[in-house]
Amino acid sequence: MRRVDPLTLHELRRRVLRFGDPTMSVADPRDEEPTSLHFAGFLSDRLVVSASFYPSLSPVNPELRTYQLRYMATDLDVQGRGYGSRVLEQSERELRQLGVEQLWANGRDTALGFYVHTGWSTLKGSEHLSPETQLAHTVIFKGLR
Ligand SMILES: CC(C)(COP(=O)(O)OP(=O)(O)OC[C@H]1O[C@@H](n2cnc3c(N)ncnc32)[C@H](O)[C@@H]1OP(=O)(O)O)[C@@H](O)C(=O)NCCC(=O)NCCS
Repeated sequence: MRRVDPLTLHELRRRVLRFGDPTMSVADPRDEEPTSLHFAGFLSDRLVVSASFYPSLSPVNPELRTYQLRYMATDLDVQGRGYGSRVLEQSERELRQLGVEQLWANGRDTALGFYVHTGWSTLKGSEHLSPETQLAHTVIFKGLR
């Protein structure tokens, strides 16, 4: 697990989260900001998992110091082997050290089981469709204190 440049993650983001569609965006406008953090896990040289974090006001607890998680993805053929949990553990450790108090995200409904398993909660009444993918999402959050 290590921190990477966001460009490293575009191919994985597109394959896992954008149906491999070359026309869809795989960049966040905040990607290159110095306060954004991009974590990745490698098997030898192969990138297999990624998670990006951006300072962002939480819709759950705007009074806290919060980061938003985006582009959480484990490559298609290696899902279910614990890599997603591990990249989150490492990210949370580093974010906690930076004084971050809570994480939030728009979690894909098909992945909510994973998030609940790794300690996240869902925000009641926050169900919505992603404007980018039209897939069902729910706001999720996790305290780091
Ligand atoms: C969701 C995702 C990131 C999880 O990563 P992963 O590496 O497959 O997850 P892990 O192997 O670390 O799983 C940890 C636990 O969560 C469970 N889990 C994983 N995905 C799950 C899901 N979609 N629903 C329910 N439980 C799930 C695993 O079974 C595992 O439980 P166990 O420890 O009892 O075996 C990955 O499956 C993925 O990239 N999916 C497609 C893209 C996506 O939906 N990303 C999230 C966008 S918000």
